[in-house]
Amino acid sequence: MKEVQDYYFKKAQKEGYPARSVYKLEEANLKHGFLNRGGRVLDIGCYPGSWSLYSAKMVGPQGLVIGVDLQNGKRRVEDGKARIEFIRGDIMTDETSAAITAFAADFHVVLSDMAPQTTGNKWSDQQKSLELSRRAFDLARKFLAKDGVFYCKVFDGEDCKEFFDEVRRCFQKAKIVKPKSSRQESREIFVLGMGYKGNLIGGTQVVDKSNDR
Ligand SMILES: C[S@@+](CC[C@H](N)C(=O)[O-])C[C@H]1O[C@@H](n2cnc3c(N)ncnc32)[C@H](O)[C@@H]1O
Repeated sequence: MKEVQDYYFKKAQKEGYPARSVYKLEEANLKHGFLNRGGRVLDIGCYPGSWSLYSAKMVGPQGLVIGVDLQNGKRRVEDGKARIEFIRGDIMTDETSAAITAFAADFHVVLSDMAPQTTGNKWSDQQKSLELSRRAFDLARKFLAKDGVFYCKVFDGEDCKEFFDEVRRCFQKAKIVKPKSSRQESREIFVLGMGYKGNLIGGTQVVDKSNDR
């Protein structure tokens, strides 16, 4: 397994990505093709920036990537790629949500690779991870355009199934993804929701933001 990790670490270095986590997004995107030209992407928990850089390459110069993190993840915009805007803030706060709205109100893709500071206590780490994932899901429901895609990390464990079922209800299709580049012994899995049904309140669609891609 160490060889596999070294392989992805070296590959990321060679391809100019600051973290090997980029392949956890690339693998899902190659299979399901959700990062399309001209798309707007919200990348929550973006530091050090691999997912934002990869997304910017995929959506191209007509696209937009908004990255959010507690840590300073500002990234240089490269030719031929989308503009990347960075918001430094805690995603749990209303201020950060308002800062996102200032850039765009509807996104084609919402990503979250957020991870809590782990303590080694399996139960509490899993609960903290789930809290972050639930917040990412709340923001996905707020910011996703109809038919949009949500791809979110969560630590597998108690209550995960309930979270997955909640996601599944809001999307045409939903899957649990375990990328090859994710260590087998790691409890991280990714929830993928495709085809956002729109903002549903009491079963009635009240917002139908058109996807102008
Ligand atoms: C695994 S890293 C993300 C790696 C990134 N996807 C990449 O490829 O470069 C997880 C990030 O989640 C961020 N994070 C954790 N809690 C957060 C919160 N409440 N608000 C914003 N970011 C948070 C951490 O600061 C950390 O940088």
